[in-house]
Amino acid sequence: MATMGVERVAFARARQRGTVVRARADEGGGGRRARGTVRRVARMGRGLTFVDVECDDALKTRGGRGTSTAFVKTSERVGRGVRPGARVSFAWTEQDEAERATRRDDRDGAYVDGSEIVILDPAPVMSVANVRKEMLERFGGGLIDPSSVGSARGMSSFGLCKATLRGEQCRDPNCVRRHDASDEELRLARESRERARERSRRAIEAERSDDDPHGEANKEAKCVSDRLFAEWCVETFGLKTSEKDTLVADIAGGSGTLSFEFHVNNGVGCVLVEPRCVSLTPRQRATWNNLRRRGAREDAKPAAREAWLRSELWVKCADEQNETRMKEHFTRLTAYTEIATDEDVNAVSAAAPPSDRSVLDAHFEEFPRAVPRAIAGCDAAVNVAPFTHVRAEFWSLDSSVGEKLKRMRPDVLVGMHADQATEAIIDAALALNVGFAVVPCCTFPELFPHRRTPTGGPVSSYSDFIEYLCAKDPSIQRTFLPFKGRNQVLFRTVD
Ligand SMILES: C[S@@+](CC[C@H](N)C(=O)[O-])C[C@H]1O[C@@H](n2cnc3c(N)ncnc32)[C@H](O)[C@@H]1O
Repeated sequence: MATMGVERVAFARARQRGTVVRARADEGGGGRRARGTVRRVARMGRGLTFVDVECDDALKTRGGRGTSTAFVKTSERVGRGVRPGARVSFAWTEQDEAERATRRDDRDGAYVDGSEIVILDPAPVMSVANVRKEMLERFGGGLIDPSSVGSARGMSSFGLCKATLRGEQCRDPNCVRRHDASDEELRLARESRERARERSRRAIEAERSDDDPHGEANKEAKCVSDRLFAEWCVETFGLKTSEKDTLVADIAGGSGTLSFEFHVNNGVGCVLVEPRCVSLTPRQRATWNNLRRRGAREDAKPAAREAWLRSELWVKCADEQNETRMKEHFTRLTAYTEIATDEDVNAVSAAAPPSDRSVLDAHFEEFPRAVPRAIAGCDAAVNVAPFTHVRAEFWSLDSSVGEKLKRMRPDVLVGMHADQATEAIIDAALALNVGFAVVPCCTFPELFPHRRTPTGGPVSSYSDFIEYLCAKDPSIQRTFLPFKGRNQVLFRTVD
């Protein structure tokens, strides 16, 4: 399909879901309005978002000097469709003197308070870093002509290459980012990066709990958090010292890093309940290669053979889901662009617990579907700890997934940054009278408006959420693990 035709189809779709307002409707509201292309968005939490817009026409501010760069600050909710590359219109008023005096930076542009941001045209798909020509050919459904990749309206008109930003030579021959920045642009971009780092440092500081004994400087990076959490669970719940074979249910485990730690690296049986596909990182594939080299030898010790066979379950699982995973990745990348459908946007939006019984009773898939060849022909396989991926959301025991979980009789339920599933994990563990450990993360107050803290207030902040969860049972304990980010563990052991 030619690009022009494609754009029309995509535009019609976007209009269908109400994200595009081409006509005069967006010009109302009485205040001054401007239109332009979004260059950068920084969401600082509910109620504060900064949107940098390159406007079509210069904004006339009190200072007199017209400028087409607007630094828009808004307290309104800004939808995900407002992203770099999208064309928007917005109402604006110049920030007052007091507000300007508190500002730490002074970039060249108009600092304005914005409201009623309306998307005129969704971001072009090529404005999304990581969208590749092969992906479009494979999953784009003919909506975009992949030959447009790298054209004037492609990626190249957006972000600066990170190597260029650091003052280094870019060594990636396929890099589609810009390398042509002037000294002035580089200076501004570096200042902007420094401001972003400072904001992030302040956010970490603001969130730090006084009870957390681990100093920021001593904490491990988030990427090792799964290993630390798994080791802590193994120790706390005695998963390897128990006389019987134990089973952990890792709920909302994402692509499976935590489950991999339990199962492959600690030899603990595991069921992962998660709607996303399992994937293996290059490091995990390297682990599999090493385990195979050692475990497949004639004279391999039983422990080495079992570790290898456990990793085979993962490779099978990931390979079976590979195509679906790539498709889902593409949907996530392009969800708020010109080619997205309503279904795509729904698929990537955070979901609330369903009220519809048919959703709770829905059929789900289990992986691996087939026994890996290495396991099928091996006598030692009977001793291999099991691993199953139940590809579904978990909301309550009163559901088809809940029934499955009850039949599997897990000893412990765990959830690392389990988003909407966090409360469901605790409720299920209390109902089953088994141990649990969760590391709460996002609160989602708009998805769970009925939640109340013990004092009757709404549950909107992270600390409200912790208080709300702890109030579920007096046996719930708290501790902190030494990794960066949200590291507070709520747990309960059962004798
Ligand atoms: C922030 S990610 C964390 C993934 C992983 N635990 C980690 O730490 O990297 C949250 C995950 O929760 C999953 N999720 C959200 N609601 C869920 C539910 N009701 N049941 C199961 N998984 C859910 C999402 O699919 C997503 O993978």
